[in-house]
Amino acid sequence: MTSHKDKSAWSVADIRKRLDKLPRFSLTDLPTPLHDLSNLRKRLNGPRILMKRDDLTHGGLGGNKNRKFQFEIGAALEQKCDLMVWGGGVLQSNHARQCAAAARRAGLDCVLLLNDGPHGHDLQGNRLLLDLLGADVRTTGRDGMFGHEADLARLADELRAAGRHPFVVEYGPLTAVGYVECLLEIHEQCLDHNADLTHIYLASGGGTQAGLELGTRALNARYSIRGFSPLIVEGGRMEQQAALAQASSKLLDLNVEITPDEIWNSTKFVGPAYAEVTPAGIEAIRLVAETEGIFLEPVYTGKAFAGLLHDIRKGVLGPDDTVVFLHTGGTPLLFTYARELGEGFDQDR
Ligand SMILES: Cc1ncc(COP(=O)(O)O)c(C=O)c1O
Repeated sequence: MTSHKDKSAWSVADIRKRLDKLPRFSLTDLPTPLHDLSNLRKRLNGPRILMKRDDLTHGGLGGNKNRKFQFEIGAALEQKCDLMVWGGGVLQSNHARQCAAAARRAGLDCVLLLNDGPHGHDLQGNRLLLDLLGADVRTTGRDGMFGHEADLARLADELRAAGRHPFVVEYGPLTAVGYVECLLEIHEQCLDHNADLTHIYLASGGGTQAGLELGTRALNARYSIRGFSPLIVEGGRMEQQAALAQASSKLLDLNVEITPDEIWNSTKFVGPAYAEVTPAGIEAIRLVAETEGIFLEPVYTGKAFAGLLHDIRKGVLGPDDTVVFLHTGGTPLLFTYARELGEGFDQDR
């Protein structure tokens, strides 16, 4: 058996073969594009920056969760479920929007149990799209990102008692496997771009980074992955990511060991709280839009890109480095935060 520890890596083909054994429902064309941000590089006089465009996955206006929903919908269809159920996050959640869109694409219903959260009741951004998708949205009446478990278990029981066959989306091995595949794409696309990749930057406090970490170790690649969490969680963030990566490793039979101390993940750019805009995030959104015509957003990708800009300015990254920034989507949030993004803008210019 091969493992990271004995330094004999799996090949891309080996790993793909394992991914292909999982039931999957296609939600997008893959690979997503990898774009060279050469205008931005000129402006910053910094490293080469390639952007992996997972904002361009097709399902429900795109984003990172479409990769996992391919496998979750695949499993739901295999188990003959008739609706997707997710409890977690807030009314403006990207995950909720992509869950509902993926369910619709597969001809399934979708029930969502969500906390209120910032701008939760504004009929804009993801909240508006949930309505257009005809998702059955239930609220806990609470704020914050967590604490849905008891209500969710009750809801699933009620649905079963009513004769439905729900697939309850869980934080388990299927959460991260999609980003093992994304890592393979990045690896191959960098070869095509003649890019000697050194770093991967992204917004994640969970499965997205866990999948990239697993893929990197399975290939025995040496990429340094720098994740920027969108929120401060009490204890155990890297422990959770390592556990997710480990669970996916087991599912794919990769025999890769990942420990929390090997994972680099920062909360430095969260700002005052989850989903509150920051000046550094807004600067990043404007800079990338003005130089490359690409939109980040203020809750996830803007903050992670602020982390990348900080590392360039502090000399952590130099002109000899090559960075992939993983664009994880979230575009509808630009409209949710129109007022905050427009503040300080000269409306007459
Ligand atoms: C746009 C965007 N980027 C990044 C993330 C982070 O994903 P995770 O922490 O699950 O890896 C999310 C999660 O909802 C998201 O919506």
